[in-house]
Amino acid sequence: MLTAEENTFLTQVGPGTPGGAMLRMYWHPINLSREINDESPTKFVRILGEDLVIFKDKSGRFGLIADKCAHRNASMVYGRVEERGIACAYHGWLYDCEGTILETPPERNDSIMRNVKTTAYPVKDYLGMIWAYMGPQPAPPMPHYDTLFRNDGTRKWLMHPGLDANWFQAMENSMDPAHLQVLHQEFIGRGKTPASTTRGFTDDVESYEFYITGYVGL
Ligand code: FES
Repeated sequence: MLTAEENTFLTQVGPGTPGGAMLRMYWHPINLSREINDESPTKFVRILGEDLVIFKDKSGRFGLIADKCAHRNASMVYGRVEERGIACAYHGWLYDCEGTILETPPERNDSIMRNVKTTAYPVKDYLGMIWAYMGPQPAPPMPHYDTLFRNDGTRKWLMHPGLDANWFQAMENSMDPAHLQVLHQEFIGRGKTPASTTRGFTDDVESYEFYITGYVGL
């Protein structure tokens, strides 16, 4: 069982946390490219604990900026994409893909455009996915994982729904394999139905084996 401190150390990924600093050293795939398109040009995403909006402007560039508009916090997911970026739906502040403010329609004050920027992260459309880099510059090269480049098979992209839990809870759950045959009995039978819903497929399992590996944690 983790202590509260260990849990915080291992699972927090927001800005300023040790886990967040480590994960911000890498490019992350954050969405399928094809899902952000002319019909659906914006999408809210929460990446490493930050609320952000992916968008595709009318010149075809992808951007990733803070969900909250720097003016009065309207969500940019409702923004209108234009040639030069995305305009907030509320008062029209226009941001480019780097988060620079290009126009502030109701305000006649150039210092806003000179001094204010919204949070924006570099993104790349790479191998059918949109990748984001949220760490310090310079950004590392894009990853060259062999499975992304092999040509001797078929490649299929699938987006699974996010788990509404921290990753460590999912890992702790995998230490309890006996639940599988009962909790997931509707999905693991490959056409077979268990004799009893109480026992599920429990009797198909002869035994469980646990052993300690050489890995030393915390
Ligand atoms: S809240 Fe976005 S422009 Fe005013």
